[in-house]
Amino acid sequence: MYLRNAWYVAASDSDIDHSLYPTTLLGEPVVLFRKTDGELVALEDACPHRKLPLSMGRLDGNQIECGYHGLTFDGQGTCTRAPTSGRIPSRARVHSYPVHVRYGLVWLWMGEPSLADVSSVCEVPEWGDPQWGLSRGASMTVQCNYLYMTDNLLDPSHVAWVHQSSFGNAACASEPVTATETANGVIVSRWMRNVEVAPFYAQFVTFDGPCDRLQHYEVQYPCQAIIKALFTPAGTGRDEGPLHADVFLMNSYNFMTPVDEHCTRYYWFQMRNFEPGDEGVSRRFDEDVQHAFAEDRVVLEAVHKGMINPRVAPINLPSDAGPVKFRRELARRISAESAESEHARPASTEHRVIETLSVSS
Ligand code: FES
Ligand SMILES: [Fe+2]
Repeated sequence: MYLRNAWYVAASDSDIDHSLYPTTLLGEPVVLFRKTDGELVALEDACPHRKLPLSMGRLDGNQIECGYHGLTFDGQGTCTRAPTSGRIPSRARVHSYPVHVRYGLVWLWMGEPSLADVSSVCEVPEWGDPQWGLSRGASMTVQCNYLYMTDNLLDPSHVAWVHQSSFGNAACASEPVTATETANGVIVSRWMRNVEVAPFYAQFVTFDGPCDRLQHYEVQYPCQAIIKALFTPAGTGRDEGPLHADVFLMNSYNFMTPVDEHCTRYYWFQMRNFEPGDEGVSRRFDEDVQHAFAEDRVVLEAVHKGMINPRVAPINLPSDAGPVKFRRELARRISAESAESEHARPASTEHRVIETLSVSS
């Protein structure tokens, strides 16, 4: 169901301090905390004894003490104390996740730790470039499967209906899209020529009159989206060559973290090619984008409910070509990954629980 060998956003960096922060990624309970020297720790949030969340225990310096019988774990997940048993049981350890901070976000590697490579965290070429402004964005919980969000972020046409007061207008309704598979995802894009500037962008573009608009919707496996918006005076839009001096560019970075099959945590920020230091512009971006994403949330949560048990199988439209290609290749990657790790899989959880209980009874 999930691609495990990948980085997922677990929190904003500012969310984590020297206290226990429980969360769930890919159906796995995780607890995060910052050590006294500032280093981040991410551990499985389940004590190996009776699976009480460690986040219900307490921090003892840089270690977590379970709140049931006191098993204590360091930042690597190694048990350092077992007060009720005299010696430390050999299987008393919890998984420790590779963790990395970039772009003000905390990234967790959910797969095989030895494969974690920080160079594969999403690339943001504009980050730190003084020519580009940053709106730090926010996060929200969306009660839907993450694949409805990747569908949505490969679907430029929805802005004509869902975002009439912000990202879209009538010009976005019918122009066909082109879907292209790349080495690490799918890009759906289209030019709209000689059209009105949509409301959100109209407050920022510096030219008058109609525009050529490019929508570039890209989702990379498993679930990060780079959405680029380009507005340039009508007649000057082109794929190659220098950009017009008045061009408006906004690159939106979107990270969807599956909590489980029915819920997704959504993180984002935007980069823009104008007024880099203007806090008022950044604030306006943050407010308007959050409002627009709340419009997506209403639709996506209703889609999730509608798709759970459709009376008749859903149909696809030509504009679904990108999402269909993306889902197909992601499914292939997930099954290839699980086939590779099959031989290393431990005995079933049910078995282990029965074994544990019979040994201890
Ligand atoms: S459940 Fe954690 S020590 Fe017993
Ligand atoms: Fe949207």
